[in-house]
Amino acid sequence: MNETVEKPNTPSVEQRVDEWIKLDEVALKYHQLQWETPKQSTKFLEQFASGKLKSARKVLDLGCGAGAATAYFASQHPNVLFSGKDYVDELVELGNELALKRGIGNLDFQQADWFDLEEESFDGVLSLQTLSWLPEYQRPLKEIFTKIKPNWICLNSLFYDGEISCRIEVKEYARAAQSFYNVYSIPDVSRFCANHGYRLTEAQPFVLDIDIPKPKNPDIMGTYTVNAIGSNGSLERMQISGPLMLSWYMIIIERVE
Ligand SMILES: C[S@@+](CC[C@H](N)C(=O)[O-])C[C@H]1O[C@@H](n2cnc3c(N)ncnc32)[C@H](O)[C@@H]1O
Repeated sequence: MNETVEKPNTPSVEQRVDEWIKLDEVALKYHQLQWETPKQSTKFLEQFASGKLKSARKVLDLGCGAGAATAYFASQHPNVLFSGKDYVDELVELGNELALKRGIGNLDFQQADWFDLEEESFDGVLSLQTLSWLPEYQRPLKEIFTKIKPNWICLNSLFYDGEISCRIEVKEYARAAQSFYNVYSIPDVSRFCANHGYRLTEAQPFVLDIDIPKPKNPDIMGTYTVNAIGSNGSLERMQISGPLMLSWYMIIIERVE
């Protein structure tokens, strides 16, 4: 093995939040549109997590943005109390405003830093489309394991089912924005969980069930699909955003008793 390659599980990038505080028109539209039309990935994750949610009383959504996905989960599970936490105050305020307007009772939003969580007990932790957008997965997962100690964590992000991870940083020059699109190795994440008293019990690729046309503007990241024929003749719908192919997975991590 090449000795210059970092050992698995070893993060080397500092936390960074500048890109989230600066909310431009594209970012606000991303958060607001979902309140009108829930994303397919949100609906699929709700189905994927529904077994766990049935027996939960209190669930935390980390990196909840303006809370559209949390609100979707709350509407599907009226007996569960949902708390959404995000770093950006403006998004938290927007989430609370929209939840109040729509009269959703089993839901609240608060500001928090996932890299420095307060100790608080929740049965389960959700996170949608956020872990790959953080500089690393290790510290965020460790914060959950040690401060929240939930029975389960269910999240969607970019993963790979082999011993390869990618640290990807996207720069969109047209909107002066940058963000990570990291792909995490599932075996590496599994080992990390096992070292902290948790087990990665399920990893399911998220395949869209609809075609999405290519956006007209090539300068802004935006998901579209391309249909390809796999080597066994099956139809595969690939998700692409800007220059990247997105390998979406939904995973469940459970506490080892
Ligand atoms: C790609 S967005 C996803 C938002 C939402 N979960 C969704 O599915 O639409 C990532 C979110 O993570 C939040 N975030 C980034 N770093 C964070 C941190 N350290 N603590 C809490 N939230 C953070 C950002 O403010 C942003 O709202």
